[in-house]
Amino acid sequence: MNSNINALIASHKPGHGLPQAFYNDAEVFQTDLQEIFYKEWLFAIPACELEKAGSYVTQSIGAYKVIIVRGSDNVIRAFHNSCRHRGSVICTAKKGNNPKLVCPYHQWTYELDGRLLWARDMGADFDASKHGLKTVHCRELAGLVYICVAEEAPDFDTFAKTALPYLELHDLSNAKVAYESSIIENGNWKLVWENNRECYHCAGNHPSLCRTYPEDPSVTGVGGAEPSPLVQNHVARLEAAGIPSQFTIDAGGQFRLARMPLLGAAVSYTMDGKAAVSRPLGRVHIPDAGPLVQFHYPSTWNHFLPDHAIVFRITPISPTETEVTTKWLVHKDAVEGVDYDLNRLSEVWIHTNDEDREVVENNQMGINSPVYEPGPYSETQESGVLQFVQWYLATLQRNRGPQSLAAE
Ligand code: FES
Ligand SMILES: [Fe+2]
Repeated sequence: MNSNINALIASHKPGHGLPQAFYNDAEVFQTDLQEIFYKEWLFAIPACELEKAGSYVTQSIGAYKVIIVRGSDNVIRAFHNSCRHRGSVICTAKKGNNPKLVCPYHQWTYELDGRLLWARDMGADFDASKHGLKTVHCRELAGLVYICVAEEAPDFDTFAKTALPYLELHDLSNAKVAYESSIIENGNWKLVWENNRECYHCAGNHPSLCRTYPEDPSVTGVGGAEPSPLVQNHVARLEAAGIPSQFTIDAGGQFRLARMPLLGAAVSYTMDGKAAVSRPLGRVHIPDAGPLVQFHYPSTWNHFLPDHAIVFRITPISPTETEVTTKWLVHKDAVEGVDYDLNRLSEVWIHTNDEDREVVENNQMGINSPVYEPGPYSETQESGVLQFVQWYLATLQRNRGPQSLAAE
């Protein structure tokens, strides 16, 4: 398979879509899990979701099962959800609250910090301290929890340092999840990303979003090499007010942050462009500051607005299935029906997600045809897609190490 992957990478024509196998082949999918999702930092949850000590969520990343739990010291930690006795999963629910983590099989009982506390009839020689839960790397950044299942995690500090000034104004630790949705898109995870990284498809597919979201690539591209005067003025006005907004992308292309203007007088992603929540989330006191748009490959993109925030997480399920989870965050004291209406808050992105699901599924079905031949991307409209594909191929090769092209 190594040589297959190498041959596949070599057959990619720059500026074009990827060869078919990248989107539907089981071995490529396994390689994507192995080299990307099992090695990179992944966005897991907003920290506010774990309200108190003992609150936990469980997640799957390919074969890995993970528990993310808030300890009695308030620290959020992540563990492999596999008992140190005979390996059973410990937490079977998607989320919950427990004073201890108790395995349902033979009731081995773990502290919220992973230490094994109690195991019945294991004999005098049994050393509980050697049977604590295996840890998963876990970092909290301005109210966002990232995890990495690799034994040795790559650098997180560069991202954390860059993103913190942008994020901290949004005060996400004082948020609550007002609504969440999880959908399965019948498409490869890279098609979900490719679709996310361009707005070439917006006018034809997103009537609700296009009420407030500019489809002009010189605006949604938020600058990069050539920011439009509109974006430049917007960013200059916000920076002068002490709101970090400048376009920034890391050297490896894994993450990007920038603030972009919405259309006309729009201040939020609502059908009428007016705020969705009357109680602001964070300290971005300029109502038309627009969204802070962040992506961090391979797992998340986010929109942080002055009145609410939306975080997206993508999880590859199979070569042609991807789970997209969306969470709408509002101030923790905002009251539904008083400060916000749930339908008004969530409808634009519920529609948008469903429309994106449909275009991704159509894309996948067409790619599966034997006649599929990768076509050219538009440099004006799809520079974000090109950037994603470049990041993907570079990361795949770097993480595969010596077995990649050089070894052939
Ligand atoms: S497998 Fe967990 S207690 Fe036996
Ligand atoms: Fe879209």
